[in-house]
Amino acid sequence: MRGLKKSYGRFAALRGISLDIRHGEIFALLGPNGAGKTTFVEILEGYRHRDAGEVWVLGVDPDHQSMALKTRIGIVLQSSGMDRYLNVAETVEMYSSYYPQPRPVDEILELVGLETKRDERVLRLSGGQQRRLDVAIALAGNPELLFLDEPTTGFDPSARREVWEVIKNLRGLGKTVVLTTHFMDEAQYLADRLAIIANGSIVAEGDPATLAGRDRMVATVRFSLPEGIAPPALFELSAQTGATYELRTAALTRDLHELTAWALGAGVELADLRVDRPTLEDVYLELTAEVTSPASTAREP
Ligand SMILES: Nc1ncnc2c1ncn2[C@@H]1O[C@H](COP(=O)(O)OP(=O)(O)O)[C@@H](O)[C@H]1O
Ligand SMILES: [Mg+2]
Repeated sequence: MRGLKKSYGRFAALRGISLDIRHGEIFALLGPNGAGKTTFVEILEGYRHRDAGEVWVLGVDPDHQSMALKTRIGIVLQSSGMDRYLNVAETVEMYSSYYPQPRPVDEILELVGLETKRDERVLRLSGGQQRRLDVAIALAGNPELLFLDEPTTGFDPSARREVWEVIKNLRGLGKTVVLTTHFMDEAQYLADRLAIIANGSIVAEGDPATLAGRDRMVATVRFSLPEGIAPPALFELSAQTGATYELRTAALTRDLHELTAWALGAGVELADLRVDRPTLEDVYLELTAEVTSPASTAREP
């Protein structure tokens, strides 16, 4: 997409987004509530119209050819309305019947780990199992591309894990997956690439490990010294708490080498020696700080 824009009345929900999502990758759009994630995916799915910009999904413009897209994409909604009195296999069969080339039902149930639940009524499934059934439904038409809008919001930790494993397995099928989330750990665990959206704009994009240069950012070295041993005068320490010292450095390899060389020479054990880099959470909080301020959340309905 290039320059994608969408407003609701005078409120600009998407402010000119340009992104490439690649075939076969798991792409996460990470951002706080109200950032524009659902607007974004629904425009790609052909369920909302954009105001400006160019969008191509599987070579098709979803605004004008949404029927051509519908059999090629699978959608997992934020909440689904299936018939809770049907059983698992019946539910998937029903959805399969809408598509020209469905994937066999038993194959789908195996993919999402529900093969032993095929005769269970939907209402008897746990939260995690129901979510896996949502994914099964999205897979019914054997789509090339899957959209998952906040797939684990409101889930307990074990249900989240179940859903994560199912999503990870989709990569092995060669599917392209676009998911939205406001959980950093979810984006980090699942995504090959991610973009952070805040206030309708993309504020960072890339590999979860190197996003916004966090692999090159200043590192913090922490260590403790035995009582009565003074730290070396090799560099300026940035903090001290009791016997624990902190060094912030942009030249980690060199400083760590000097520190450990000094310790070896002095016969000192550096207890608790630790190196920390900014986490994805640090980067995320910094980049989205503006939009979570009271002034902008006041615009929420
Ligand atoms: N149909 C709508 N009419 C008016 N405002 C909307 C509508 N849908 C979403 N919005 C507003 O647009 C912004 C982005 O919403 P949304 O795309 O749902 O964000 P997210 O999914 O990231 O929470 C929010 O401020 C929301 O209140
Ligand atoms: Mg949403």
